[in-house]
Amino acid sequence: MLVVSGSSCRHIAEDMAKLLDCEHHSLEARRFPDSEGYFRVPESSIEKIRSTTVILVSNTFPDSGIIETLLLLEAINDVRQGNLSDMRGKGIDCEPIGPGIYLAIPYFGYSRQDKRFNQGEVISARAIGMLLSSKCDGITVLDLHAPEVLKNLPVPVNFASSMTEIANYLQSKISPDFILSPDKGAIERASFVAETIGCKFSYLEKTRIDAHTIVHKAKDLDVNNAIVTIVDDMISTGGTICRASEALRDQGAKAVYAACSHGLFTGGAISKLDKYVDGIIASDSLRNPRSVVSSAFALCRGITELIEK
Ligand code: R5P
Repeated sequence: MLVVSGSSCRHIAEDMAKLLDCEHHSLEARRFPDSEGYFRVPESSIEKIRSTTVILVSNTFPDSGIIETLLLLEAINDVRQGNLSDMRGKGIDCEPIGPGIYLAIPYFGYSRQDKRFNQGEVISARAIGMLLSSKCDGITVLDLHAPEVLKNLPVPVNFASSMTEIANYLQSKISPDFILSPDKGAIERASFVAETIGCKFSYLEKTRIDAHTIVHKAKDLDVNNAIVTIVDDMISTGGTICRASEALRDQGAKAVYAACSHGLFTGGAISKLDKYVDGIIASDSLRNPRSVVSSAFALCRGITELIEK
């Protein structure tokens, strides 16, 4: 097995290679002055890529990450297909080798566009899933917002979760008494964390008015004097967490923390959140100042299950 990465996920790919006890190779990924990308399998990686199962670790975020992931897969496919001659006459085409390219996606961008909410919209998450599946033999995705959108793709898809590692981190560093899901969509993840820790759980009903405005339905929560952690799949503007934290403080919570897999933290979200919560915990699926939980364990579980199947 070989783990490879481009520009987005080298830190995760290196950790995964250690856990899987295999080599990690960096693929060439850089930008031209006009922002277009240049991607290449270095000569030193060609033999290895042709001789073993290859796992590319790459985010489909931001938009440039989608192009990078697709073109790195294309370059790996070319090498495995034996398309090796270049215009300078260096390299000789050779026999194609069989399947064995897997994609591990720590953060799948566009995951929230998972339905046709309005007539004429593209279901972006599925469209990107289809493109990726045309260039690999299987995909594992970490804490995908709504996994249904990638069901029945042309290649097998495995849904990995870092909630075990997040629960272990919370238990050892914070010892929460109560876990809150800020909306119905996060119930499965948050209740899993509560069960793993062995503490109380509840959820809020959220209505999103627009990208920056969140309204929660009033609900009595048994949080008086409790240490509470709000668990979500991602934090973007921080609006969801800030509103949930207000509800918890109003009902007597003594400390409120926020935990998520994907810390996008857009538009000054961290400084906003710092006024509402006592701490923020994120996985390292995206590089950010609050990424304290490794996503490599979950992605290795996902890849192993995928390959075993
Ligand atoms: C949406 O349902 C997601 O699970 C998150 O709750 C949401 O994306 C968080 O966004 P924000 O931080 O902007 O409120």
